[in-house]
Amino acid sequence: MKKVKVNYEKLYYGFPVILLSYYDKDGIPNVTTISSSYTLKDMVALGFSCGGYAINQIKEVSDFVINIVDSKLVQEAEFCGKNTGSVCKKFESLNLTPIPSEVVNAPIIDECPISIECTLTDVFESQNHKGITNILASIKGRVISESYIDEKGRIKVSEFDNILYIGDGVNRGYRYMKKE
Ligand SMILES: Cc1cc2nc3c(=O)[nH]c(=O)nc-3n(C[C@H](O)[C@H](O)[C@H](O)COP(=O)(O)O)c2cc1C
Repeated sequence: MKKVKVNYEKLYYGFPVILLSYYDKDGIPNVTTISSSYTLKDMVALGFSCGGYAINQIKEVSDFVINIVDSKLVQEAEFCGKNTGSVCKKFESLNLTPIPSEVVNAPIIDECPISIECTLTDVFESQNHKGITNILASIKGRVISESYIDEKGRIKVSEFDNILYIGDGVNRGYRYMKKE
């Protein structure tokens, strides 16, 4: 395989698009878009630019929900990724419905097929990676659309409709997991 050296600002090789929802310090529901995540057992790790409204609220309120975006919600994800909660109550601008979680003090987005309810446990801000805030959180609950669940209550892998975010800092785009 012939390879070419590249000098990109970043290389995002395909991460699920997430709408992260929370109540801010004033109890107002808000939402941001992220793609930097992984999960292992009951832990989730997320990465943020340190100046965002959502991360700075979550550092104070602790609870939030990771909502996995499907192909019907690309425009909403773009909106939440271009506007900041510091000046925009994003739920008021979108047809997304915040439903209170039963296990954390944060709203679930009704229109998203998978929601993972989380509480912040750790914040990492290192001089080695200036401008980036990484967090760890404990997973307190998970809710999944019935359409993703088989008769035994297990996940139907083939039904997943996640969107993967791919980019090099200049070119960016989405790949769709479910073939229409
Ligand atoms: C597809 C997509 C993925 C994104 N991923 C991240 C991310 O992983 N971390 C991050 O800090 N910002 C990410 N952003 C940018 C934020 O969503 C954007 O800066 C947003 O305006 C921040 O809103 P807030 O100030 O309300 O938190 C992403 C944007 C898009 C459209």
